Amino acid sequence: MSQRQRIVLAIGLPGAGKSTWFHKQGITPLSSDHLRFLLADDEDEQGFQAEIFRTLRFLLDMRVKMGRPVSYIDATNLVIEQRQPFLDQARELDVAMEAIFFDVPLDVCLKRNSGRQRRVPQDVMQAMAEALEPPTIEEGFSKITVIGVRGETLSEHEENL
Ligand SMILES: Nc1ncnc2c1ncn2[C@@H]1O[C@H](COP(=O)(O)OP(=O)(O)OP(=O)(O)O)[C@@H](O)[C@H]1O
Ligand SMILES: [Mg+2]
Repeated sequence: MSQRQRIVLAIGLPGAGKSTWFHKQGITPLSSDHLRFLLADDEDEQGFQAEIFRTLRFLLDMRVKMGRPVSYIDATNLVIEQRQPFLDQARELDVAMEAIFFDVPLDVCLKRNSGRQRRVPQDVMQAMAEALEPPTIEEGFSKITVIGVRGETLSEHEENL
């Protein structure tokens, strides 16, 4: 029997190491930053949120319909409200939805963020850290992998089937 198709959603603050982790695994995810570049010529473009995520969901839909076994999504996905459309989409497509949670302290993210002289102001980072809702199985994920500061796997939880 063939394995059920999967969507794997990254969750983590800016600077948590999501893109670095994907790169090290040799994975090319569907990335909101990459789409900002493709659609608006700038990874740091802060407008067009709706267009960016609409495109991301369209590409995800295409990948699943083309039969790709797994599709990764690289975006911060910090709060349930942002993740819900992806969970709804997975349900509609009848594919499994997994989470990779980058559990990295705010001070580490702030340090990395300043080191790459890039975009997210400190007060915005602070607010994002306060808003962050870690993923749970109850939310609808069939598996949750937690990644630590150095990109190491800290834990893996699977839904009891
Ligand atoms: N495991 C790690 N150890 C040390 N430094 C790391 C690690 N992972 C990432 N970094 C560094 O932290 C910075 C941010 O990493 P990365 O771009 O992967 O974060 P991100 O989670 O994708 O952030 P964003 O949401 O802003 O795209 C980079 O400069 C990267 O080199
Ligand atoms: Mg990134």
